[in-house]
Amino acid sequence: MSEINGKVVIITGASSGLGEATAHRLAKAGAKLVLGARREERLEALRDAIVEQGGEAIYRVTDVTDRDQVEALATAAKEAYGRIDVLVNNAGVMPLSPLDQLKVDEWEQMIDVNIKGVLYGVAAVLPTMREQHAGHIINLSSVAGHVVFPASAVYSATKYAVKALSEGIRQEGGEEIRSTNISPGAVATELTTSISDPDTAENVNELYEMAIDADAIARAITYAIEQPADVDVNELIIRPTKQPL
Ligand SMILES: NC(=O)c1ccc[n+]([C@@H]2O[C@H](COP(=O)([O-])OP(=O)(O)OC[C@H]3O[C@@H](n4cnc5c(N)ncnc54)[C@H](OP(=O)(O)O)[C@@H]3O)[C@@H](O)[C@H]2O)c1
Repeated sequence: MSEINGKVVIITGASSGLGEATAHRLAKAGAKLVLGARREERLEALRDAIVEQGGEAIYRVTDVTDRDQVEALATAAKEAYGRIDVLVNNAGVMPLSPLDQLKVDEWEQMIDVNIKGVLYGVAAVLPTMREQHAGHIINLSSVAGHVVFPASAVYSATKYAVKALSEGIRQEGGEEIRSTNISPGAVATELTTSISDPDTAENVNELYEMAIDADAIARAITYAIEQPADVDVNELIIRPTKQPL
């Protein structure tokens, strides 16, 4: 029987892209899913699709920039399934632009979603995982959390922060809490639609012509979760084979 079977997994940003693909894959492996994002109609459709295929899932509309809503997502998991085995801290935005454009609102949005949202997730599940003496936090960083390129400064800063947090969780988690930092390269999702600068959007769309399917990352997340409890997969970088960056 898979190590995933029966595990209670919270996924933020489950309404599209990597989160949605991961939900489908984990549901097939027998996980009990707790889906969070802002777009309710997407979450409802995903929940229905999973249940129709014999899986288990609930959803709760969640804006990760609101700590109370993230706490409520964790509470919903415990009320429905009694425990929290895994948090996939996946919600993220990527409005890339050169610093000179001073898109300060977008900088703040990236900090709020990509860093504070991840922290709120950690705060919402850590006490429960400590009580259980077991848990697994999976954070979505990026190749941009390993290298910086023009227009990526703020996004990269948030993804470097995620990488640092993953390492901190690993060290402080000790024998109880597993920590996985996932760093995708170009993956075909809705992520690039948040780029408001036309020149940057054009460059990124060119790079994304080589983008791989979201299921590639879902498989990586599945691999990390399905390892036995004494195996902690800490770092995975998954690029399109063609990606030079
Ligand atoms: N695609 C790539 O090439 C790539 C590469 C490296 C890293 N990543 C990372 O992978 C993660 C998933 O991105 P994706 O590629 O799957 O993009 P996506 O299709 O745009 O999905 C992003 C998800 O985040 C959610 N989200 C955005 N703001 C939110 C908020 N304030 N509260 C709650 N949920 C929020 C969105 O749902 P709602 O709009 O419904 O809230 C959506 O479900 C991100 O952290 C991203 O940085 C992606």
